[in-house]
Amino acid sequence: MKPPCFDILAPHYVWIEAVTFGGLLQWCRTALVDQLTEVRRVLVLGEGDGRFVNAFLLRNPNAALDVVDASPEMVARARQRLTGLPGARNVRWHVGDARRFEPDGPPYDLIVTNFFLDCLTAAELQTLVERLARHLEPGGRWLVGDFALPASRLKRIGAHAALAVMYLCFKVVTRIPAGRLEDPGPVLLAHGLTPEQVEHRLGGFLVASLWRRSNG
Ligand SMILES: C[S@@+](CC[C@H](N)C(=O)[O-])C[C@H]1O[C@@H](n2cnc3c(N)ncnc32)[C@H](O)[C@@H]1O
Repeated sequence: MKPPCFDILAPHYVWIEAVTFGGLLQWCRTALVDQLTEVRRVLVLGEGDGRFVNAFLLRNPNAALDVVDASPEMVARARQRLTGLPGARNVRWHVGDARRFEPDGPPYDLIVTNFFLDCLTAAELQTLVERLARHLEPGGRWLVGDFALPASRLKRIGAHAALAVMYLCFKVVTRIPAGRLEDPGPVLLAHGLTPEQVEHRLGGFLVASLWRRSNG
């Protein structure tokens, strides 16, 4: 299946986000970035226009990154954003489908998926986590920033309504395969990752979580 195409959205991504969520999505991407120290090899999937990578490289200029995104427009914007940043030369850009990305080096010690896993169907999520967890070294971490369903019933109703609108828009504009939000938690757990730190906003509608692969 062809990857979704976010090119049309790329020039409008920042302002649409600012109008709909203010600074909350950027909070979600970077809430745990200060925990990401002593990281050497990083895989970032569906990075979009580079706002997480920018914040990460300011703290980790020596880390080596593989950044994968299917949208040439998003990647061009991300590259532009990093111009002049010392760590930018350590980034390898891959324009392509993250569902087929084959890492070619030693294992990563960090995988990052911000607002990317929500683009995948349940089956795609399973396959991707199963494949990539093998490329995470023991003790390595996986950062997830994404929407989630709040625990409170009332807030869940609001979240379902907001997600229905978002999925409809993204399906029409970008042709994402997913039609609903899947919880990546059980899949990560099933592949040997356990949550280390979790932060949330909007009553649990936005969650930033850091998972660690067991040492065994
Ligand atoms: C909702 S945007 C999130 C962008 C960014 N991570 C953020 O925090 O806003 C999803 C991003 O993932 C990319 N993407 C979606 N499906 C993809 C796939 N199968 N392979 C590679 N990139 C994909 C899109 O091009 C887009 O840049």
